Amino acid sequence: MSLNLSYQKVNKVFNENTKAAVHALKDVSFTVNPGELFCLLGPSGCGKTTLLRSTAGLESITSGEIMYGDTDITTIPPFRRNIGMVFQSFALYPHMNIFENVAYGLRVRKVPEAEVKKKVTEVMELVGLQEELKRNPSPMGLSGGQQQRVAIARALVYNPDILLLDEPLANLDAKLRRYMRGEIRRIQKQTNITTLFVTHDQEEAMAIGDRLAVLRLGVVEQIGTSDELYNHPQNAFVSNFIGKMNLFQGTIEKSADSARIKDLPITVSIDHSRNSSDGKPGSPVLIGARPEQMSVSPTKTDDSVPGKVGIIQHLGQFIRYEVNAAPEISERTLEIDMPHMVQGVKEGDTVFVSIKPGMGYFFPKENTSNE
Ligand SMILES: Nc1ncnc2c1ncn2[C@@H]1O[C@H](COP(=O)(O)OP(=O)(O)OP(=O)(O)O)[C@@H](O)[C@H]1O
Ligand SMILES: [Mg+2]
Repeated sequence: MSLNLSYQKVNKVFNENTKAAVHALKDVSFTVNPGELFCLLGPSGCGKTTLLRSTAGLESITSGEIMYGDTDITTIPPFRRNIGMVFQSFALYPHMNIFENVAYGLRVRKVPEAEVKKKVTEVMELVGLQEELKRNPSPMGLSGGQQQRVAIARALVYNPDILLLDEPLANLDAKLRRYMRGEIRRIQKQTNITTLFVTHDQEEAMAIGDRLAVLRLGVVEQIGTSDELYNHPQNAFVSNFIGKMNLFQGTIEKSADSARIKDLPITVSIDHSRNSSDGKPGSPVLIGARPEQMSVSPTKTDDSVPGKVGIIQHLGQFIRYEVNAAPEISERTLEIDMPHMVQGVKEGDTVFVSIKPGMGYFFPKENTSNE
């Protein structure tokens, strides 16, 4: 039976009390539900691997608690924590055949030979490698996706309470990644093991996670389902990390449910449910709109912002227009998705972009750099 995995005010400081101190995890608190596939998402260096390694006991935390059910696992030595881990590099043993690679965790636990055989056979079936097991080559004789399955089988073979996956798909090509992420979800749901899956690929996290946590500089910025994070991001950073968000410099108006973009006489009126800013009238905000919440037109209207068209891309279901507005209006290239080509607009033209009525977000002003 799976239990909760919960983090309570977990802090990790590397090289504490030295000039080189790094506060890698800051008061991290959240709970992974029993049998949940929970994704940790965030830019490079935000603390994802540190949290995973701390859970496995490969790193000791500076303060806080990591609980599995009612047990504080930080008091348990790493080899007694019943945790399966898959690393980005797979870390398979090249000198052992795939049977022995998978059996390793059972041998360490001194499981009788007959049971080793039974468990390895079962788990190889679960990950879809029963044919390869018959040949039983070294992992070096397998494709990237197959090696990845061996790594997952090796982590699952001793029925761990918790499964930790650190960017397990990073070494695979794009097509195989998409396939394997579906496989990982299938295997995880079949085994119902409480799982933490680390990635910095938002599409991957949204596609497979029951829920996601977005980390930035060791701090959990937001937790929710893909839908919650996409539709109700709490701040501009999350909004731009989970999907694309076009951001404009704006000012809150008198009524606080509308803002104007910079000095332009454009008022964007925003639905309260999407309003993430508690700013007072006159205070600066970022106004956000997703690519599908905006439109491009060759003609000026009262509520449009001028810009120059960069690249136009046909992406099947929609056409993506890249538009550059003045930097004091929007610092980054805008991306606008239109259901069809806009008549009279080509690359290099001046166009007018607007946020569709009732669409858009307000965010407190902040640095939204993804780095
Ligand atoms: N052993 C260590 N000693 C000192 N600092 C470390 C150590 N390991 C990690 N750090 C620092 O802690 C922070 C978090 O690192 P971590 O490896 O957890 O990031 P990450 O989110 O996994 O990044 P990536 O996506 O690049 O794998 C970084 O600033 C990193 O430099
Ligand atoms: Mg990492």
